[in-house]
Amino acid sequence: MTLTMQQWIFVESYGRYTLDLGDSNVELADITTVPGFAEITTVPLGYGHQAGLPELRAAIAARYHNVDPADVLVCHGAQEAFSLLVRSLEITDRSEAVVIGSGWSQHTYYPAEVGLSVVTVALDPCEHTLLAAVAEAVTWRTKVIVVATPENPTGWTASRDFIEAVADIADAYDAVLVVDEEYVCDPDMSAAGISDCVAVISGLSKLHGLPGLRIGWCIATADLVDRCTQRKHLTTISNSVLCESIATAVLRDGDRFLARARTLCRSGAHTLQEWASVLPQVSIVNARDDLPFAWLRIDKSLDSLAVARRALDEGVLVIPGEVFDRPGYLRVAIARPPVDLDRGLKVLARAVCGPRLDLLTAGGRA
Ligand SMILES: Cc1ncc(COP(=O)(O)O)c(C=O)c1O
Repeated sequence: MTLTMQQWIFVESYGRYTLDLGDSNVELADITTVPGFAEITTVPLGYGHQAGLPELRAAIAARYHNVDPADVLVCHGAQEAFSLLVRSLEITDRSEAVVIGSGWSQHTYYPAEVGLSVVTVALDPCEHTLLAAVAEAVTWRTKVIVVATPENPTGWTASRDFIEAVADIADAYDAVLVVDEEYVCDPDMSAAGISDCVAVISGLSKLHGLPGLRIGWCIATADLVDRCTQRKHLTTISNSVLCESIATAVLRDGDRFLARARTLCRSGAHTLQEWASVLPQVSIVNARDDLPFAWLRIDKSLDSLAVARRALDEGVLVIPGEVFDRPGYLRVAIARPPVDLDRGLKVLARAVCGPRLDLLTAGGRA
């Protein structure tokens, strides 16, 4: 990989943009409007509970069907949930992880970091072909199978039948299937509870627009949750009770946050489609009503990193495909207020077209 997400976001771009069309979350939410917000500031700042405040675990469980609060572990984002799950496996020097697609590089880097051999299975538009490839890749050495649905950055989304079939494979090989549901808007779509071998991870970072709370979770059997909790004691002990209290209030008010996400995603997808329709250099691979980001392909003659750098020079953050090992693509956040998205897309159009934009803007569209 020529450039990592970490380098792009936290080093090269940090402090250089005023408009964020890069992060894959819905625009940051205003938490001061949640009922009971004023009381949160009086929460005693102790350690709380290692598995998360009971009321937060209950509020998370209530989002799903048939999930018990005992099956929920609160973590520092879905990222910590993922790392705890991987660390809770019995890893030997022959252990393997099978990662399906996953442009989210931590899914491959983290298992490798802790000593698993990682086998990646490239996404295929045909689920039958993909399933056959997964079945081929899984062996008795496989400890964990990982899939993100919807996937970041492509937006690829698995059907329930596919997830159930992969769960059957995981079950047969005594592996854990981690389903990353960071971008699942509708809890009815969740794989939580479909099998004891399935562990779901998610959080408040994306659709709720609150990455700064660092509140995520894992939903798994009580036994797996317990093993992860033992690991958590060695890493972060517990989450911040202040953030957990805010998260509880947010989840109790969850429908409003998700409705806001849907509105922003819908209008963002529409704006982006109009924008791209007058730019021959850009084609939309994925821009959906239920996802906060779009995945764009740009003309072969253009360098996606150079385009992202030109936008950054004008104070707009977008994500170049290079950080996902896919040069020639851009990930653009669309769940933004219309006025911000319009401004950012104008800058991006200039970054894509260079001086030739004048020809296109004659009609006033770009
Ligand atoms: C697919 C996916 N999983 C997990 C994460 C980590 O998110 P967080 O730790 O903020 O919940 C991200 C962040 O972008 C992501 O895209």
